[in-house]
Amino acid sequence: MAALATGIATAKLILCGEHAVVYGEPAISVPFSQAIVKTDVTEATETSFSSAFFEGSLDEMPAFLAGIKEITEQILRRMGDKKVMINVMSDVPIGRGLGSSAAVAASIVRGLYVYFKQPLTEKELLHWVNQSEKIAHGKPSGVDAVTVVTGKPVWFEKDKSLELIHFNQKAHFVVADTGVPSETRSAVLDVGHLLQNDPQLYQPMIIKLGDISREIKKYFETNLDVAQVGLLMTEAQKLLEKLTVSDASLEKLIRTALENGAAGAKLTGGGRGGCIISLVENQESARKVADALQRGGAARVWIFTIGEDNQ
Ligand code: PMV
Repeated sequence: MAALATGIATAKLILCGEHAVVYGEPAISVPFSQAIVKTDVTEATETSFSSAFFEGSLDEMPAFLAGIKEITEQILRRMGDKKVMINVMSDVPIGRGLGSSAAVAASIVRGLYVYFKQPLTEKELLHWVNQSEKIAHGKPSGVDAVTVVTGKPVWFEKDKSLELIHFNQKAHFVVADTGVPSETRSAVLDVGHLLQNDPQLYQPMIIKLGDISREIKKYFETNLDVAQVGLLMTEAQKLLEKLTVSDASLEKLIRTALENGAAGAKLTGGGRGGCIISLVENQESARKVADALQRGGAARVWIFTIGEDNQ
């Protein structure tokens, strides 16, 4: 066993297709390299956990960490019931649609496998992260787990084989946190109810969100027309509003981004709080939008670039 073992995982950002992805439409999701989780595993006399969100023995973990608890117990059992100290250091805000739970799970599993000097395949890691996510979120589409585990931009369609996306040019984004915890679980459930109660009205919106993802993919893979992709993102936001998964905190930041030169902006992840993502033309525009979002009350703002050497 290693004296100290470390596992790292990156957060994720859904560029488009959230919610629709639950119903088989595609989503584009990318690793969000500005926010990472690092887990240190060391020897201990009792298995315990240290993090910003929980401190104590594994047995006492609260319900919201049930997924992490379960996979940690299963892995430790496989490794001969050894005791370890698991120290999670994360700069991924929790419950903001950035895939914090999947990233925490992936970093812990990686840390444990390194500690016990066991090889870990991507398939196995995906199995563990999916298991943890299912316990934490009910019926996730799996997009968070796949993005976090592969660490690559993905074109995700539920139950289909994974396709990676190559960004042909650099794309510049500004991401901002409302500071309001996202309610992914209830948002997903409510979209389900809308679809059940009025499929004629809501099913076309889900398909339209899928079409938007398909169009955006073409732009990313060929010639990035920032103005057009921006419009598509804002169109997606309007549909997400109709699906009731947006809220005033998100719309305030989206307005601020658009008024300050963003080509488009939308919520990212589950919605009803959480984060927005806006597309901008270049770094200068990114700084302007980021400053405005900061002044406009965002809890945190990141400038994020993807494409070419960034993927
Ligand atoms: O976990 P979040 O908030 O990033 O949301 C994931 C995206 C959803 O499409 C809303 C849910 C899912 O399972 O795909």
